Amino acid sequence: MTHTLTLVRPDDWHLHLRDGAMLKAVLPETTRHFARAIIMPNLVPPVVTMADASAYKARILAAMPKGDSFTPLMTLYLTEETNPDDLAAAHAAGLISAVKLYPAGATTNSASGVADFDKVRPVLERMAEIGCPLCVHGEVTDRDIDIFDREAVFIDRVLDPIRRAVPELRVVMEHITTKDGADYVKANPERLGATITVQHLMLDRNDMLVGGMRPHYYCLPILKRRDHREALLAAATSGDARFFLGTDSAPHPTHAKESECCSAGCFTAPVALACLAQTFDDAGALDKLEGFTSLHGPAFYGLPVNTDTVILTKSDSPVTFPKEIKNGADPVTVFNPGSPVYWSAP
Ligand code: NCD
Ligand code: ZN
Repeated sequence: MTHTLTLVRPDDWHLHLRDGAMLKAVLPETTRHFARAIIMPNLVPPVVTMADASAYKARILAAMPKGDSFTPLMTLYLTEETNPDDLAAAHAAGLISAVKLYPAGATTNSASGVADFDKVRPVLERMAEIGCPLCVHGEVTDRDIDIFDREAVFIDRVLDPIRRAVPELRVVMEHITTKDGADYVKANPERLGATITVQHLMLDRNDMLVGGMRPHYYCLPILKRRDHREALLAAATSGDARFFLGTDSAPHPTHAKESECCSAGCFTAPVALACLAQTFDDAGALDKLEGFTSLHGPAFYGLPVNTDTVILTKSDSPVTFPKEIKNGADPVTVFNPGSPVYWSAP
């Protein structure tokens, strides 16, 4: 027997599309399912000015598969040199939807990120004034803080002070991975939201490390212990509108993942909706899926809800996903949760 589930077409509130050949290879995997996505600016070099964002948006639109309609919601990469007037002009023109804060050195291509948070305070104040949200990669980068503690320490040392200093600023805690992150959102209802990825809802660090190391599960922030995953799942399935989907789908060539120093990132775009449907179904919360994928994000960003739908299908036997997608000589391995998925998306 086949079941179906119709959802308002989802959006992805945190996505890496890259550039050039990789952009062309991965974009259809998103546009097939999602109407809009917040596009991460961590290219090399990063997207730091209005002109950069405008040029990158044009390259994304030029790479669009025929027949799909998709709106890239652009972001600027916050640096200590960001010009508040340029940022405000990009926001006023409707070109950017948010600005991304990477602590310097936190993750893939984050060398130009912020080291001294006082230096960006005037920019954050301007953003609060014009209503431009800040998307935050919430990890400290100090060598002496254990990688599994970096999110919790970031909340105390960086995020909470920023929010107190600039209380009108709207903030998205990107890809939260801990109970601490979920609890901070719940305790601070004003102007705060959080995205959650597919892999952090489905996997914990045992999945990555027990019985052999699985590089395709390595992403940042790193998978945490099981009780954190359970807290994230509870938040995502609670119906609380401050939690919404940001896949953080982050393609790297398979050779860069299966290497001595594995790049961080899971390429989930092709399977994200199917995996989420399975996860919400397993949690007895399919009725909460549409809020998480399609309603809460637009509400936070003040955008209309999409008017069309996608239909997900549940089969009697597990579906098989493609192992990788083509990208010239550099194929990209598709996320595989390692547990049966009965749902599929068109
Ligand atoms: C992202 C990437 O590859 O750009 N990697 C990741 O593990 N999530 C960067 C990021 O969002 O941290
Ligand atoms: Zn990311």
